[in-house]
Amino acid sequence: MPMQPCLLVRLVDGELARQALKNLDALNQNYTPLRIGDELALPIFEDSDLNEMGIDYRLESVDVEHAPPPIDPHSRLNAVIASMVDANEHLMQSVPKKWERLDDLILFPKDAFLGEEWTSIIEQHTHFFERVADALNAKRIGRQQPIAADTVRSAQVELLHGADGWVEVNDNGLVFGFDATKVMYSSGNVTERHRMGRMKADGEVVIDAYAGIGYYTMQLLVHANVKHVHACEINPHSIKALEWAAKRNGVDSKLTIHPQDNLITLRDLEGTADRVLLGYLPSSEMTWERAIQALKPKGGTLHIHMNVEEERIDDWCKDTLQQCLAYAKAYGHDWHINTFHLEKVKWYAPRIRHVVLDASFSSRSSAS
Ligand SMILES: C[S@@+](CC[C@H](N)C(=O)[O-])C[C@H]1O[C@@H](n2cnc3c(N)ncnc32)[C@H](O)[C@@H]1O
Repeated sequence: MPMQPCLLVRLVDGELARQALKNLDALNQNYTPLRIGDELALPIFEDSDLNEMGIDYRLESVDVEHAPPPIDPHSRLNAVIASMVDANEHLMQSVPKKWERLDDLILFPKDAFLGEEWTSIIEQHTHFFERVADALNAKRIGRQQPIAADTVRSAQVELLHGADGWVEVNDNGLVFGFDATKVMYSSGNVTERHRMGRMKADGEVVIDAYAGIGYYTMQLLVHANVKHVHACEINPHSIKALEWAAKRNGVDSKLTIHPQDNLITLRDLEGTADRVLLGYLPSSEMTWERAIQALKPKGGTLHIHMNVEEERIDDWCKDTLQQCLAYAKAYGHDWHINTFHLEKVKWYAPRIRHVVLDASFSSRSSAS
């Protein structure tokens, strides 16, 4: 136990003295107060100005224990960083206040620990990110980059500490595995993912035209008990993750993955599906026609994702339903709209919502 300067007071004055020391910025909370007989030893900083204590005390060096690390992760992160930046106030203000945890990987926002001052601190402390990981009970550290503007939605995550980006996460009783540095995980779509798991789709054949790592596919296969999912996916890293999740969740026999561009693979699925998911933002419009053609001749349901300005949502719904009926008609289907529902998933940007239009179509002949 380290010897520390302490202020000794009568036990009965302990709480009063602790408060007074805090007010004077003299209480050293890196060490734990110690009871010695009927006195309490309160660790203090050296050279503390105790003129205004107003309580009887004496000073002594005492063996006190280090205080346990704070339970709250923000405090632990701040404490470990403060020890490396000599409590530099300016730098402490830019310590990240939020992060995302995937498995034992912490992902900080894209502006975290950037700039000359941080670079120099990180160079001085070769174990900087290892210590940050320790403070957050993690093993790996990454920094988010904006989602790439490419079609495959490559995640751009810079790994700052750790050997690789493979993570395994649980969601709604399912397990997903993917390389977080290569593919994106939309943690914000949780309500939509779980909604897919509650779909009344027992025994259906479903096409997930933008399957990603299987966010919706697995929910439908496991929780909604669909008969089969055809998952279209173009990104090899997402395909690897899809295969992994199908095996891990025990549904690989009910999943067919169609690698390549869905505009090509959907052609082979014409007339086969009860339901097609079009989960692509900002718009999935390029696949609407093929999706209509992929539904069974008797009709079926589309889940059309789109980013829409709040005030345009009603018009967009009407236009989209009309456009789908027009595609159906051009394909030789005499369909009508059976039911439709608009799901507001989340705000994508100010005034712009990520919405999903569930539209069910059925053939007039099968209805009569
Ligand atoms: C944003 S993710 C969507 C994942 C999930 N549906 C969601 O909303 O959370 C889109 C996925 O579609 C895939 N993708 C994009 N264009 C595609 C195309 N033309 N054909 C097949 N897959 C495509 C991307 O690789 C990516 O994995």
